Amino acid sequence: EPPMTRTQPHIPWTAATLTLFPDAFPGMLGTSIIGTAEKNRIWGLETVDIRDFSANKHRNVDDTPAGGGPGMVLKPNIAAAAIDSVARNGRPLIYLTPRGAPLTQKRVRELATGSGVIVFCGRFEGLDQRVIEGRQMEEVSIGDFVLAGGEVAAQAMIEACVRLLPGVLGGAESASEESFEDGLLEYPLYTRPREWEGRSIPEVLLSGDHKRIAQWQLDEKIEITKRRRPDLYEAYRAKGDSHERD
Ligand code: ADE
Repeated sequence: EPPMTRTQPHIPWTAATLTLFPDAFPGMLGTSIIGTAEKNRIWGLETVDIRDFSANKHRNVDDTPAGGGPGMVLKPNIAAAAIDSVARNGRPLIYLTPRGAPLTQKRVRELATGSGVIVFCGRFEGLDQRVIEGRQMEEVSIGDFVLAGGEVAAQAMIEACVRLLPGVLGGAESASEESFEDGLLEYPLYTRPREWEGRSIPEVLLSGDHKRIAQWQLDEKIEITKRRRPDLYEAYRAKGDSHERD
């Protein structure tokens, strides 16, 4: 009789994070709907400690920058060994850095559609440029501000992807009607009580007139986007104009 073989159930979307602070994971990715989805094997997380690939007993991973300057640089051989220890499986290799291309909901949707991501979390002043080029890393920033390292950025990016995976959000919290899905910021929300600290819920929302409510919500979205994000508003207008021409 052949021995029983048990194959691992296939997890369709997996994230691998490479970090000097493995204790930072799963962090927020272990809580709430994202953590529940991981327990339900909708997605998987693997954490690799870059320091395990150090070449010496002191577990050093960095060295002083060529040409001088502040801080330390992550050594290329160690970063590459950590990267090469992870099976690519068609996943993009992303390096989180404030120098990267700004992360967008469009890129998040693309990443959520694939087989997962490999995320390299930077620390120190940065990573030797030859690894970025040699391993064809995609440099991504989560915003125009500087974090102490890539770990929080990695969790933000992975969370943005995982919530789009089939079976993660319930129908009530459907991802399709939110900010950026139509290129506009979200309309304001209210709940009971009807009056609070002298402020009332807008009358239209209590009217029961679903057509008027939908129109009010769209008007509010356009207004807040125009004021707060003129760049998004221009893109929204340009899209509307092209529809009108068709
Ligand atoms: N590491 C440090 N700051 C960052 C940022 N803004 N985005 C991505 N990774 C980072």
